[in-house]
Amino acid sequence: MKQQNPVFMRKSVRSYTGEAPSKDELDLILKAAYAAPVGMGRYDSLHITVVQRPDYLARLEDAAGAQLGKENYHPLYGAPVLMIFSSIFPGIPTDNSSYSNCAILAQNAALAAVSLGIGTCHIWGAIRALNKEPALLAELNLPEGFAPCCAITLGRTRETYEMRAVQDNRIMTATME
Ligand SMILES: Cc1cc2nc3c(=O)[nH]c(=O)nc-3n(C[C@H](O)[C@H](O)[C@H](O)COP(=O)(O)O)c2cc1C
Repeated sequence: MKQQNPVFMRKSVRSYTGEAPSKDELDLILKAAYAAPVGMGRYDSLHITVVQRPDYLARLEDAAGAQLGKENYHPLYGAPVLMIFSSIFPGIPTDNSSYSNCAILAQNAALAAVSLGIGTCHIWGAIRALNKEPALLAELNLPEGFAPCCAITLGRTRETYEMRAVQDNRIMTATME
């Protein structure tokens, strides 16, 4: 059933009014993340930080801009909330779950935001920058051994979600019969 399915309505929203989602909305978005599948059921290997401190978000944007040599860089698009997904990273080449778990949590949360009409965008670039900023990382107060993988922006937007046409064969697909 494709009609009005948030999967087919989702798009990256990069313009925000500055107004944050309500507490109930944030709780529902978090619950969607908690409902995500997690490799080997290792829920304790994951951590979510809901950042709503404007000064922290501004410093993160400045740090990302400085790393790229760009002034007035706004990789968080003025969103009032950044939901950061972190994991324990065992650092072994065969670990393909840690990043995946975070991404799946992020996508579940993003789809819940879409269903509520709240703007959201996946954010990997600024999180790459965050991982090179010990002071900003320390402020997150993550448990020992955890590091951020990715994030989503959240906030009210004037943009609307509508059913989108999805191009067939957009992604190389092979069938083995
Ligand atoms: C792994 C991943 C990382 C992404 N990182 C960023 C990012 O750092 N900043 C950003 O604005 N968009 C980011 N995006 C959003 C993509 O640019 C976007 O999904 C893509 O261009 C398709 O557009 P759509 O989301 O509107 O369908 C990311 C998406 C994914 C899946």
